[in-house]
Amino acid sequence: MKVLIVGGGGREHALAWKLRDEDPGVDLVAAPGNPGIGTLARCRPVAATDIDGLLALAESERPDLTIVGPEAPLALGIVDRFRARRLPIFGPTAAAAAVESSKVFAKELMRSAGVPTARAERHTRADDARRAARELGAPVVIKASGLAAGKGVTVAGTLAEADAAIDAMLTQRVFGAAGAEILVEEHMEGEEVSLLFLTDGEGWLPFLPAQDHKRLLDGDLGPNTGGMGAYAPVYPLVLTTGGARGPGGGQAAGGATDGVEGRWADWRTLVELVAERIVEPTLAALRDRGTPFAGVLYVGVMVTAEGPKVVEFNCRMGDPETQAILPLTGFSLAPLMRAVAMGESLGAGVDGRWHRQLRREHAVTTVVAAAGYPEHARTGDVIRLPSTTPAGVHVFHAGTARAPSGELVTAGGRVLAVTAVAPTLADAQRVSVAYAGAIEFAGKQYRTDIAWRELGRHARAS
Ligand code: AMP
Ligand code: GLY
Repeated sequence: MKVLIVGGGGREHALAWKLRDEDPGVDLVAAPGNPGIGTLARCRPVAATDIDGLLALAESERPDLTIVGPEAPLALGIVDRFRARRLPIFGPTAAAAAVESSKVFAKELMRSAGVPTARAERHTRADDARRAARELGAPVVIKASGLAAGKGVTVAGTLAEADAAIDAMLTQRVFGAAGAEILVEEHMEGEEVSLLFLTDGEGWLPFLPAQDHKRLLDGDLGPNTGGMGAYAPVYPLVLTTGGARGPGGGQAAGGATDGVEGRWADWRTLVELVAERIVEPTLAALRDRGTPFAGVLYVGVMVTAEGPKVVEFNCRMGDPETQAILPLTGFSLAPLMRAVAMGESLGAGVDGRWHRQLRREHAVTTVVAAAGYPEHARTGDVIRLPSTTPAGVHVFHAGTARAPSGELVTAGGRVLAVTAVAPTLADAQRVSVAYAGAIEFAGKQYRTDIAWRELGRHARAS
């Protein structure tokens, strides 16, 4: 099988690793790829947003399958263009990718499908938006509707902050057209979990739940980033009426569940709840509109006292969640993605026993970022990797490049993602952090506490 991977970050390196792991004979091509991906694939210098260039590459390479990593080419209609030329491609059409590329569309879709999410109003005029923020009261969330490179959301602790965000988006147009339409949204309390579902538009197969860590510094302090690490699986506190038990079989204490029975749920409980209340009605609503979603639907969930609610949809796999999830995924992606790309139904892949196909281990991914990230990431620092990589450690390249001298150098904000897989979460974190600490380049930044919430739960449950 020949597979073309579109993209050149840590997520795409993890995809390339997974495809090679499940089929040593796979022929991989990546556009544009990166030096890490280059150890597994032939990298071609075509940008992920150059749809004409990617079409030309696919016409000459004739891959059996193209997999699209990032959202931008999906929003640009790469799937529509490939399909028109009968090139097998895995991912949603531009119309279905609107679940991510238009937050206003996603909100309207959820409302029509009865999917639990925060209340929100759509606004294009600053004075109306400010009034809506006052009706909801602080804290309140202001969101640009369009794609804004992960920067379009302000969780405003005060009305003054909300006003500033509204003004920046609607008056100063800091996000251009992406912020010409905004949502003024109710603030939800709870813990966030990333749930990814591989779907043919109707049937679905879940990946393990993961949790991203957006802040730069330990303790979830410092500025927001594209994601400084992730772990899987996640056992959040969800309300269950049955006796589902968590890692140590213990019962949770207090907090968001006052007056209601709250327990550590088995992660399967959360996946099934989200599939039933969120994924199935969303997929059905998209089918009804004539724009079925085939690809990976990423559901950013807030686990609130009233149950899981949608924070956001993404139309592709998460970064860095993918780097934590794929090393634990026991089923083969390529045959399922190829079937979906060919317009076939997932069929036997979705058999109600999916959880047996996931490995019973833990993964912690620590991102190693460049000096100055996230404001002004410095590039060109020479990277030295440890000479040996312990068993269970995966070093995924994100922002790296080869200098003319042949040296590996930093070339982006997030430079490397180090995933450690181990039988216990504590070991996975320890090994991931130790390896990240042993990587050398000037000004490197990394967190040492990825999975801290989960480790706290494990400690309390034992
Ligand atoms: P998004 O780009 O939609 O994922 O939003 C970025 C981040 O803002 C999310 O990961 C949440 O941490 C936070 N956020 C977004 N919407 C809400 C909300 N309604 N309530 C609380 N936090 C939110
Ligand atoms: N980790 C969040 C995202 O991929 O959007």
